[in-house]
Amino acid sequence: MRQAGRSLPEYRSARGTGAILDAISDPELAAELTLQPVRRYGVDAAILFSDIVVPLHAIGFDLTVEPGRGPVVAEPVSSSADLARLRPFVPEEDAPYVGRAAELAVRELPPGVALIGFAGAPFTIASYLVEGGPSRAFARVKALMHSDPVVWHALADRLAAMAAASLAAQVHAGATVVQLFDSWAGVLSPADYERFALPATRQVFEAIRPLGVPAVLFGVGTGELLATMARAGAQVVGVDWRVPLDEARRRLGPDHAVQGNLDPAVCLAPWEAVAAEARDVLRRAGTSPGHIFNLGHGVLPQTDPGVLSALVELVHAEGRAGVPVG
Ligand code: CP3
Repeated sequence: MRQAGRSLPEYRSARGTGAILDAISDPELAAELTLQPVRRYGVDAAILFSDIVVPLHAIGFDLTVEPGRGPVVAEPVSSSADLARLRPFVPEEDAPYVGRAAELAVRELPPGVALIGFAGAPFTIASYLVEGGPSRAFARVKALMHSDPVVWHALADRLAAMAAASLAAQVHAGATVVQLFDSWAGVLSPADYERFALPATRQVFEAIRPLGVPAVLFGVGTGELLATMARAGAQVVGVDWRVPLDEARRRLGPDHAVQGNLDPAVCLAPWEAVAAEARDVLRRAGTSPGHIFNLGHGVLPQTDPGVLSALVELVHAEGRAGVPVG
C-alpha cells in the first residue's frame, strides 16, 4: 500500500527529501525502497516503489506530487481538445526506469515472495486529471461524465490503455501479481460506477489476462459497489475496513478472493487491541476462495514498525495457509 515505507526510519533516510517522482525514476533507489518492507517485516509480497501517476508524468503531462497532498495537475482536462495531451504510453521508452527497478527488486526478493506491480484505474486517474488534484466532492469529474459521456469514455479508454501497458511492462520485468488502484471509486453511485467506471476497468483486466498473473482490484469505500466490481475481471477484490470481509464475500459471490482489511488507524492502538482486530479480520475472511491479509488502506506514517512486525507474525502464525499468490 502507498506509504508503507513512511513509517520506516530506513525509508526516510534512503528516500531523502527530494520529489517522489525523482526517487521513482532512480531504479536502484526504487528497488531498495521496494525491498525495505520485506526485509523489515517479512511480508509475503513487495509492492513496487512507484506511483499511479508515473505513466502520465512519463508522457510529459505536467503534474507534480505534493507532499501531504498528492498529485496536482497544472492544466486540468475538461474537453475533447485536452485528450490530445494524453498520448499513448510506451513503458519501455517513456519510463524504462520502472521495469529496471522491478528487475533489480526481483533479483533480491526471497524465494516465494511476490512482487506486486500496479497502476491507477481509469476513474481514479481521471479524477486527478479533471479535478486538477485531490478532491472531496469529485464534482468536476462527475459533472463531466454526465454532461459529456462521449468525452468521458474517450478519456477513460485512453487511461485504460495506459494502465494496461504499464501493468504489462511491470509483469514482463518480473512482477508476479498486479493491482489496479481505483482508490476513489467509492464516491460513485453503483449506477454511475457501472456506467462510467466499470467498462474501462474491464478493458484493463481483459488486456492483461493473457499474461496469466493474478489481478487485484482495490478501492476505498466501495461497499455498495462490490457486486459490480466483481464483474471487472480481477480474481481478487481488495476492500477497506468499512465492510467486514464475511459481508464482502457475500456481496462478491463465490468466485473471488478477498484482500484486506484491517483499519490502518487500529495499528496506532496498544498491541492487544491490534491483535484482537487482526484476529477478527482472519476469522471473518475464512480461507475460501483465498484471503490476502492486508490493511484496508495505506499504513499511517506515525505507525510503530514494531506493531507491524508483530502483526505479520500473528498473521503467519494464525492465518491458515491457503494457496500463495504469485
Ligand atoms: O507504499 C509504497 O511505497 C508503494 C508505492 C506506492 C506509492 N504510491 C508511492 C508513494 C503506491 C502503491 C502508490 C499508489 C498511489 N498513489 C495511490 C493508490 C493507493 C492509495 O493509496 O489509495 C494513490 C491514490 C496515489 C497518489 C498519491 N501519491 C497520493 C494521494 C500521495 C500522498 C501524498 C502525501 O504525502 O500524503 C502520493 C505520494 C506518495 N506516493 C507517497 C508514497 C510512498 C508518500 C510521500 C513520499 O514518500 O514522498
